[in-house]
Amino acid sequence: MTVDVPDADAMRRLGARLATLLRAGDLVLLRGPLGAGKTTLVQGVGDGLGVRGPVTSPTFIIARHHPSLCGGPPLLHVDAYRLGSWAELEDLDLEASLDEAVTVVEWGEGFVEGLAADRLEVRISRAADHATPVRHADDTPDVRTVTISAVGPRWRRTDLSPLRSLVG
Ligand SMILES: Nc1ncnc2c1ncn2[C@@H]1O[C@H](COP(=O)(O)OP(=O)(O)OP(=O)(O)O)[C@@H](O)[C@H]1O
Ligand SMILES: [Mg+2]
Repeated sequence: MTVDVPDADAMRRLGARLATLLRAGDLVLLRGPLGAGKTTLVQGVGDGLGVRGPVTSPTFIIARHHPSLCGGPPLLHVDAYRLGSWAELEDLDLEASLDEAVTVVEWGEGFVEGLAADRLEVRISRAADHATPVRHADDTPDVRTVTISAVGPRWRRTDLSPLRSLVG
């Protein structure tokens, strides 16, 4: 599933829609360069799940726990840039276990070993026509291309294509 996302609000809408597919125990990996819009997407997921915010860049901590405000699963927002391995995350004394939370990981290109077999992998990049780096303020609207792939039996029956429709 690939979709062009024109601005940050559309990225949040995509996240909120994605949240409707997520349940406790799910894992979403976000890949993309600095400033790609990973945290912006997680803000939408947080809104969609109805968890306590705000969702911000988890730069100085490895994982931030957002409890649900509506009886649903909490959101665990992880910065994997500072994480050495998946096992390290499992070893942390988290407020909710990975089985109880929706876990969303901002990921570099690092480790794959030991990752959960079931996961959604989200890649965010500048759209092809923006391939040349554009120098402007961080929050200037700029099209991102988002590709979501489902890995593992958990997602076998899930149709991701409806996510495409409401972004533009
Ligand atoms: N189409 C778009 N989608 C998402 N964000 C956009 C878009 N256009 C512009 N932006 C802006 O780009 C910035 C994305 O920042 P964000 O913190 O979400 O990126 P990030 O991938 O989490 O970065 P980092 O690698 O530092 O964690 C925000 O300031 C946002 O407003
Ligand atoms: Mg971020």
